Amino acid sequence: MASPAAGVVVIVGSGLIGRSWAMLFASGGFRVKLYDIEQQQVTNALENIRKEMMFLEQSGSLKGSLGAQDQLSLISGCLNIQEAVEGALHIQECVPENLELKKRIFAQLDQIIDDQVVLSSSTSCLLPSQLFAGLAHVQQCLVAHPVNPPYYVPLVELVPHPETAPATVDRTHALMRKIGQSPVRVLKEMDGFVLNRLQYAVISEAWRLVEEGIVSPSDLDLVMSDGLGMRYAFIGPLETMHLNAEGMLSYCDRYSEGMKHVLKTFGPIPEFSGATVEKVNQAMCLKVPADPEHLAARRRWRDECLQRLAKLKSGMPSQ
Ligand code: NAI
Repeated sequence: MASPAAGVVVIVGSGLIGRSWAMLFASGGFRVKLYDIEQQQVTNALENIRKEMMFLEQSGSLKGSLGAQDQLSLISGCLNIQEAVEGALHIQECVPENLELKKRIFAQLDQIIDDQVVLSSSTSCLLPSQLFAGLAHVQQCLVAHPVNPPYYVPLVELVPHPETAPATVDRTHALMRKIGQSPVRVLKEMDGFVLNRLQYAVISEAWRLVEEGIVSPSDLDLVMSDGLGMRYAFIGPLETMHLNAEGMLSYCDRYSEGMKHVLKTFGPIPEFSGATVEKVNQAMCLKVPADPEHLAARRRWRDECLQRLAKLKSGMPSQ
C-alpha cells in the first residue's frame, strides 16, 4: 500500500517534460493530476509512464521509497482544469514553448487558483516578466526550468518574477529537494537563465574552433566527453579553478593573465550557417544518421549513460 499522499501536484501538459515531472512528484509520494487538452495525450502519457516505471523498477533505478505500483496509483489523468487545481499545492506548467499560449494558460489559472498554490512554468527561455505580467497571483509565480531528461539530470533553475514572494521560491526549493532534484536560485531573471548561457558559451566557442579549422567536429566533442565533461559531472568550473592551484586566490594569481590573453582571441557570435553547418552536420550524421530510428537509439543510449552516472553520483561518499 502507498503511504498517504504528501499533497496534490498538477501537471499542465502531458508531453515529454510533463511526464517526467509526474514521475518525479510520484516518486516523492505526491498525488499527481496530469492535465491536458488532448485525451489521447493523457492516455499515451499514462501508458508511457507505466512502462517507464516498470522498467526503472526492474533495473533498480526507480526513485523514491515506494514501489512502481504504488507510485503509479498516485498519478491520474484529468481533462478539467478547474477540477485539477482544486486543493493543489503546486502547479507545474509544461505546455509547448509559445509565449501567447503560456500567457493564456496562466491568465486562466489566475482566475481559478487560491492564494496558497505555487504556479510554476517549465519554460526553457521565456522570462518570468513576460509570462506572469499583470497576474493577480504574481507573488505565487516562478519559473522552475528542468533539464532533459529530468529523471536523470536533477538540476532545476528557479527564476522569480521581480514580484515573486521569497516564500514562493523557498517553498519550491524545498519541494524540489523533497523529490530528489537539485534546485538552484537564479537571483534575477536573465535571458538564457544560467544553464543555457553556459551551454551557449561552450557551443559558440566549439563552433568557432571548427569554423577556423583548429579541430575536427568529432575531436571537438571528445574534448568535452573525455576531457572537461569528466570532472564537470562532479565539480563546477569555479571549484575546478580552486582545485587546480593552491586555492582560488592562487589560481587567479597564477593563471588570470594567461586566461585573459586567450579570452581576447575569442571571435564574434557565429552565424551557425553556410559551409560550417555542412561540415558539422556531415560529421554528426556519420556518427548518428539523422533519421528517427538512429536518433532515438542514440538518445536511449545517452539516457542509459546518464542513468548509470546518476547512480554513481548518488553512491559516492559526500565530502
Ligand atoms: P511537448 O510538446 O512534448 O508537450 C506539450 C504538451 O502540452 C502536449 O501534451 C500538448 O497536448 C499539451 N498542451 C498543448 N496546449 C495545451 C493547453 N492549452 N493546456 C494543456 N495542455 C496543453 O513539450 P515538452 O518538450 O514537454 O515541453 C514543455 C515545456 O518544457 C516547454 O516550455 C519547454 O520549453 C520546456 N522544456 C523542455 C525541455 C525539452 O528538452 N523538451 C527541457 C526543459 C524544458
